[in-house]
Amino acid sequence: MREHVLKNDDFLVSQTDDKGIILFANDDFCKIAGYTIDELIGKSHNIVRHPDMPKSAFKALWDTVKSGKVWSGYVKNKTKDGGYYWVYATVYPMKDSASNKTSYMSCRRKPSAEEIKTAEALYKTLR
Ligand SMILES: Cc1cc2nc3c(=O)[nH]c(=O)nc-3n(C[C@H](O)[C@H](O)[C@H](O)COP(=O)(O)O)c2cc1C
Repeated sequence: MREHVLKNDDFLVSQTDDKGIILFANDDFCKIAGYTIDELIGKSHNIVRHPDMPKSAFKALWDTVKSGKVWSGYVKNKTKDGGYYWVYATVYPMKDSASNKTSYMSCRRKPSAEEIKTAEALYKTLR
């Protein structure tokens, strides 16, 4: 399937609630993933999950951010048209001071071809 290679200045942002439901996505995220904003808001973030991604990567992501820390890692995502794209993601926990609710924000940039190769090899060894 077709790889969508990010541009150097692409910056994909999304925000979820504590269950991984999408609250926000920026234009770069929508454009690369191939969805309109209305197709994403309210959906589970696993809408872009690629089957090549090991479960353990997402367990590490959730365990880390739920404990109040920042998680960074490489993620292969699926596009609406069945293609894929790689990102280097940093996921932050955030607490809204007014509502006291925790949400999570992911900011993603383009990984180098070398970084993708390494992540791909590592993920083949994980479940
Ligand atoms: C802020 C945030 C961003 C996320 N971004 C992605 C993403 O881009 N791709 C993805 O597959 N999972 C992402 N996840 C993890 C998903 O919530 C989910 O755990 C993952 O897709 C695995 O799906 P599953 O839990 O249904 O097995 C993100 C989670 C959070 C908190």
